[in-house]
Amino acid sequence: MKIVNSLLVGLFLMCALQLHAQQTNDAKMKIFIDALMKKMTVDEKIGQLNLPGSGDIVTGQAGNSDIGKKIKEGKVGGLFNIKSVAKIKAVQKVAVEETRLKIPLLFGMDVIHGYQTVFPIPLGLSACWDMQLIEQSARIAAIEASADGINWTFSPMVDLTRDPRWGRVSEGNGEDPYLGGQIAKAMVRGYQGKDLSLNNTIMSCVKHFALYGAAEAGRDYNTTDMSRYRMYNEYFYPYQAAVDAGVGSVMASFNEIDGIPATANKWLLTDVLRRQWGFKGFLVTDYTGINEMMDHGLGNLQTVSGRALNAGIDMDMVGEGFLTTLKQSLKEGKVTMQMIDAACRRILEAKYKLGLFDDPYRYCNEERAKTEIFTTAHRKIARSTAAQSFVLLKNQNNVLPLKKSGTVAVIGPLANDKRNMPGTWSVAAEFDKATAVLTGLTEVAGDKVKFLYAKGSNLDYDEAFEDRATMFGKGIGRDKRSPEEMINEAVAIANQSDVVLAVLGESAEMSGESSSRSNIEIPQAQKDLLKALLKTGKPVVLVLFTGRPLALTWEQQNVPAILNVWFGGSEAGYAVADVLFGDVNPSGKLTMTFPQNIGQVPLFYNHKNTGRPLPDGQWFQKFRSNYLDVSNDALYPFGYGLSYTNFSYSDVKISNASPKGNQTIAASVTLTNTGAVTGKEVVQLYIRDVVGSVTRPVKELKGFQKVELKAGESKTVTFNISPNDLRFYNYDLKYDWEPGEFQIMIGGNSRDVKMAKLNWSK
Ligand code: BGC
Repeated sequence: MKIVNSLLVGLFLMCALQLHAQQTNDAKMKIFIDALMKKMTVDEKIGQLNLPGSGDIVTGQAGNSDIGKKIKEGKVGGLFNIKSVAKIKAVQKVAVEETRLKIPLLFGMDVIHGYQTVFPIPLGLSACWDMQLIEQSARIAAIEASADGINWTFSPMVDLTRDPRWGRVSEGNGEDPYLGGQIAKAMVRGYQGKDLSLNNTIMSCVKHFALYGAAEAGRDYNTTDMSRYRMYNEYFYPYQAAVDAGVGSVMASFNEIDGIPATANKWLLTDVLRRQWGFKGFLVTDYTGINEMMDHGLGNLQTVSGRALNAGIDMDMVGEGFLTTLKQSLKEGKVTMQMIDAACRRILEAKYKLGLFDDPYRYCNEERAKTEIFTTAHRKIARSTAAQSFVLLKNQNNVLPLKKSGTVAVIGPLANDKRNMPGTWSVAAEFDKATAVLTGLTEVAGDKVKFLYAKGSNLDYDEAFEDRATMFGKGIGRDKRSPEEMINEAVAIANQSDVVLAVLGESAEMSGESSSRSNIEIPQAQKDLLKALLKTGKPVVLVLFTGRPLALTWEQQNVPAILNVWFGGSEAGYAVADVLFGDVNPSGKLTMTFPQNIGQVPLFYNHKNTGRPLPDGQWFQKFRSNYLDVSNDALYPFGYGLSYTNFSYSDVKISNASPKGNQTIAASVTLTNTGAVTGKEVVQLYIRDVVGSVTRPVKELKGFQKVELKAGESKTVTFNISPNDLRFYNYDLKYDWEPGEFQIMIGGNSRDVKMAKLNWSK
């Protein structure tokens, strides 16, 4: 007892000391910023709120560029998408040597899934369900970006996504609020570390606040409209998790919410974000987010700029609405000095926290730039992380793993391509340093395997589509031969091989921003190639590149093995080889449902039951909620992914089937590796609140554990559950739990679960 008491006292003292240190820092910061702001003119304050793009700054000419001139006039608070220590140092020099108050600049960038060492696209990374790996990827991204002069990243993107037509599903973490929240926290921790002022940590910016992932019809930038109940219970959760983790900044989204674009939505930005969630950092718009409100139909630039400031926006990205109109609005009484001061203070606080007032060149160390970017150690971690993100969708007759012997045909437009490997939003990647699948295979298998290569098809029959889908220097090189010639060549080499790898799917820019699709199948040219390869009778493995869930019903029926490799980053080629040859056993699990066809979309596991649910095991009944022409089932459900081994689950054991009040109970299963090799399994806990004052989803993810087991090994996996896990926002948006019956489900994906029931009383 004594020991416990002294431990508690120790813990209390530690917290008190930490709080005290924080308060002292905050007090120091306040004194510093108060003094600085006293010296600032209104124009200088408005200048801090301006975030132009970097323009065309040439090293050695920074001061003379257009941006350089604006900086000298005190009209710039930060810049983005400028990279390299030399350039950033030169620009920072203009800010701290040639402006009246010598205020340093923020340097932001879209460091989304790695910097030069590129990790899998976020949707892929989320499939590893390993928070340490995810945090580590953000840590490495921060080390590399900060070594190159960057101190602020526009990441993580945590928009919940349920519509695979939307191209930006590739940038997020899928359809689940809870998992999205865990990932949001891991990313913020990785970027910001424990001390933001260190030279290898950077400020994170969670985006896009809010609901951007719910764009109607999956069309980018489209309208969103949703109930508060759904916002609070589902879509808000990951943003709030990032705020809880101490994210330094938040980006407003392009879409409207309740008829008011997020950028001018005071309820969202001030009432929810600042008042309800206690966010203390600064708010930036998305790219020209203010100006776009003119097209939304809210008025002229002065009007929309004033509305954005009054709603709570602190920094204006690119559009210069604040810079050019706020002073006039101040004169006319449409905005107050208090609002301008508050925004300016938040920007200055961010700079203070990053340590820029102590040393504006803190992130400009040439030596670090030479030694800490794209290092062997980082690349090794990126390679193993990529392998953990791959999802084995099908493996009939154990076609995989491949033996390191014989002849392997490597066929497809993505089989020998480097430029698409990093995936969308890899702005710091050097494409030529990425590894193509063919190269990875050849290096991993050495001379034990003979590889034969053919391109087999273009990305698509439609050349104009291919142009649109391979922007930003990611062209695959259009082959001028006829489709027949290309297929014939591919079939000929397939016939000479023991196994065929069909490396197909989407190009990197078929997902990402402004890359929505109304057809989510593999492009027809590649499908025709696949059909021809299957006709050879050789075992075919589909190595699938994609930035979104695709409709793969035909492939599931006809192709013996499918390995989904997303876009694995700079080391993708090696990682693909590691998994195909079995050096790494795949363990990724989908974080977004793969539908059977586009008509089922949006399809997600945590849906409501409706008043007319379809009985289990059926796929059509008149007057039930279903379709005439397709079952309600997913092709591959949320949480799904195979391994080269098999796992079996015992029944769920509950420590107490009638808990009361704030008790904690344990739910456990025995997991056994019943196959022949070591493997990792993501054990998932789902809960259903059977009766509520409002309707509740048929199941919700509430926990997960990634477990590694040797062949034949068993382990008990236990989840502790308390009323905290049962809470939700009720009709009055009160966050609480309700007593009654609950189903506790544990399994290897959201469909195949074992269930136990309990009754929780208050
Ligand atoms: C995107 C953001 C991005 C910003 C800056 C916008 O178009 O929506 O996600 O951070 O550009 O590059």
